[in-house]
Amino acid sequence: MRSFVLREGRLTAAQARAFETLWPRFGLGWAPDRPLDLPALFGNDQPVVLEIGFGNGEALLHMAARYPERNYLGLEVHRPGIGHLLLALESAGLNNVRLLREDACALLARGLAPASLAGVCLFFPDPWPKKRHHKRRIVQPGFIDDLARVLVGGGFFHAATDWAPYADWMLEHLRAASDRFENLSTSGDFVPRPPDRPQTRFERRGERLGQPARDLLFRRRQGR
Ligand SMILES: C[S@@+](CC[C@H](N)C(=O)[O-])C[C@H]1O[C@@H](n2cnc3c(N)ncnc32)[C@H](O)[C@@H]1O
Repeated sequence: MRSFVLREGRLTAAQARAFETLWPRFGLGWAPDRPLDLPALFGNDQPVVLEIGFGNGEALLHMAARYPERNYLGLEVHRPGIGHLLLALESAGLNNVRLLREDACALLARGLAPASLAGVCLFFPDPWPKKRHHKRRIVQPGFIDDLARVLVGGGFFHAATDWAPYADWMLEHLRAASDRFENLSTSGDFVPRPPDRPQTRFERRGERLGQPARDLLFRRRQGR
């Protein structure tokens, strides 16, 4: 069961060139079922934050520029979005980002060592609004178990969505894992948008239409 439908979309000429010339610099390969050696891949042992489904990479670019003392691993399956981000990474001259074109569920389950990540971001995941599609939502009990395994104690999980029923769904699933995840919301539900996450045009439009984004911020508890 996949959380995405692969619509190939067309690469612009610049994006196609970026795959040829920039993928070797920013892109990673993964031999299935073998955990990535993150310090070796980044060439240092800075803390690593993963963004799942970065789209065209707007948030990833912003975070990587804001926190040069962290490494960012971006996962996306949609090639035009990856091409877009490759070009942006080169113009910004950032070197703390690596990208993988993989299904995040497979990578979380088998490609990351325990306690290897300082944080995981999931911004505007596909909402799968119809009830019969809820099983395709990426946030599921198994996903949360994998998150708990790969996050270091004290590490964070930051999610955002403008689909209110999905925000409630995530909250409910994370509350069910409260032995491992602590909600950092003072009201016990959502948090104001942290400055790490840039507000997009798409999101401002949603706000005008009365569909505000909701942010969830949880901390991995120590040692459970
Ligand atoms: C609605 S878009 C949001 C993109 C971006 N985060 C943003 O805020 O604009 C969701 C993205 O998640 C990606 N995605 C969904 N499931 C995924 C998975 N299992 N692994 C990697 N990427 C995934 C999709 O390809 C899509 O680009």
